[in-house]
Amino acid sequence: MAKRPLMSGNWKMYMNTQSALELVKALKGNCADVEDRDILVFVPFTLLAPVVNELKGSNIWVGAQNMYFEKEGAFTGEISPAHLLDIGVEWVLLGHSERRHVFGETNDLINKKIKSALASNLKPVLCVGELLEERENGKIEEVLKTQTKGGFKDLTKDEAKKVVIAYEPVWAIGTGKTASPEDADEAHKIIRKILEQMYDKEVADNMRILYGGSVKPDNVDGLMAKPNVDGSLVGGASLKADGFTRIVKFQ
Ligand code: 13P
Repeated sequence: MAKRPLMSGNWKMYMNTQSALELVKALKGNCADVEDRDILVFVPFTLLAPVVNELKGSNIWVGAQNMYFEKEGAFTGEISPAHLLDIGVEWVLLGHSERRHVFGETNDLINKKIKSALASNLKPVLCVGELLEERENGKIEEVLKTQTKGGFKDLTKDEAKKVVIAYEPVWAIGTGKTASPEDADEAHKIIRKILEQMYDKEVADNMRILYGGSVKPDNVDGLMAKPNVDGSLVGGASLKADGFTRIVKFQ
C-alpha cells in the first residue's frame, strides 16, 4: 500500500431511503476521525440525492454505479453525467462486471463513458477482472490488457491520471471466494505493467488500483498490506455500518 487508500462500497441494487440514511448516518459518525484515507459509497440512482444531502460536509464521497455517455437526448431510461452533477455527485463506477456480463457492456461503450465522465469532471472508477474460466486457461493478462487498453483508449496522460481502477476477479464477486493477497497483488502488478506500456512509469506507479471481490472485515488487513493494493471496492460487506467501518479502518 503505497498511496492514500481509497476504501469504497458498492451497494449494487440494494437499500431503500430509510436503510440508506441509517447506514450513512452511522458511517458518518463512525468514520469522522478517519483522516489518512478516502471513503466512497456507490449508491443506486434513486438514493443518490438523499445520500449526497446527508453526507454534505463529511469525509465520505458519493458515486453513481453507472451512467450513459451522452449529455442529454432521446435516451429513455438513461442517466447522464449532467444529471449526476446536478445533484452533487462527484464519482461514477464504470464497467462493473455486472454491467459487462449481465447487461452486455463492451469495452468500447465503457471507453465512451470514461471519456464522457472525464469531460464532465466526474471521477471514474473503471472495473476490470477475469472470469474463472479465463483464469483457469491462463488468460488473466490477456483479459486485463483488453479491458485496460479498451477502457483507456485515446485518453491522454493527464486524463489517465484522473482514473481509478478496481480489479475485481469475477469469480470472487459475491461468492465468498476472495483472491489471496498474493493473487490480488500479482494482478495489480500486471495492470501497472500494461499502464506503463501505454503511458509511462509515473502513470503506472501513481494509479490507485483497488481490489474488489468478497472483501470482508476479516480479510481486508491482509489485502491492504500488499504494496500494489491501494484500496478496496466492497459489495455485500458495505451494506452494514459496523462491517464497512471495520473495513475502512483496516490496520
Ligand atoms: P462482493 O464484495 O459482494 O463480493 O462484491 C464485490 C463487488 O462487485 C463490488 O463492486
